[in-house]
Amino acid sequence: MRMRRKKNLETHLDECGVYFTELHESTLDTREKSESFLNLDELFGRTAPLLLEIGCGKGGFAAKLAKRYPEFNILAVEKSKNVLLSACKDAMADEIPNLRFLCGGAEYLARHIKPHTVERIYLNFSCPFPKARHASRRLTAPAFLDVYKQLLSKDAQIHQKTDHPRFFEFSIENLTKAGFKLQNVSLDLHNSDFEGNIMTEYESRFVELGKPIYRLEAYL
Ligand SMILES: C[S@@+](CC[C@H](N)C(=O)[O-])C[C@H]1O[C@@H](n2cnc3c(N)ncnc32)[C@H](O)[C@@H]1O
Repeated sequence: MRMRRKKNLETHLDECGVYFTELHESTLDTREKSESFLNLDELFGRTAPLLLEIGCGKGGFAAKLAKRYPEFNILAVEKSKNVLLSACKDAMADEIPNLRFLCGGAEYLARHIKPHTVERIYLNFSCPFPKARHASRRLTAPAFLDVYKQLLSKDAQIHQKTDHPRFFEFSIENLTKAGFKLQNVSLDLHNSDFEGNIMTEYESRFVELGKPIYRLEAYL
């Protein structure tokens, strides 16, 4: 997702108050830095079970999820600040109380979210990074699955959707190797009997193009 950098981005993000939090990470070496956990009770103004969306883009899915499940806190993570601005503004305008956005890379999350406190992780149309040399950037690459294992609570699940068959295969292979079990696997979500799907921005585009949507649920 490439966008032109918004004018006065930092100022606009500052105006988003609690809706926007940024992780400040300057190195890709995840081993060197110590943990500094976010105070999520303070950020949400309450204690509630936590759902995480990683790579939330413009935040449409997270907003609908938050409205559907008011009893959960929804933390939507996105590494592009530029993309997050409209997500934060929409959530603020809608006054969604149980939704917050976190700007940062998924690779750092285990340092900022307490272990085993996440009830579900959503990976919606994560960038497939088709080139083999970029495979480690895919959000279901082994290093990311290690991060998710640290975050997920007992009986928690990962829900993934993608339009990309090879990325889906890659995900199934890595999840299985990492000890996850799979359920409700669909090779054509929109022509299946699955109910209650929440569409994302990318999903709407792919469905319009007539592409099948792949979906799975993974648990340990
Ligand atoms: C293809 S977009 C999909 C957006 C949205 N989930 C949807 O379905 O409409 C993938 C998003 O994941 C973000 N992303 C990619 N790698 C990431 C990472 N390591 N950590 C956090 N976000 C990431 C990208 O910046 C991009 O906005």
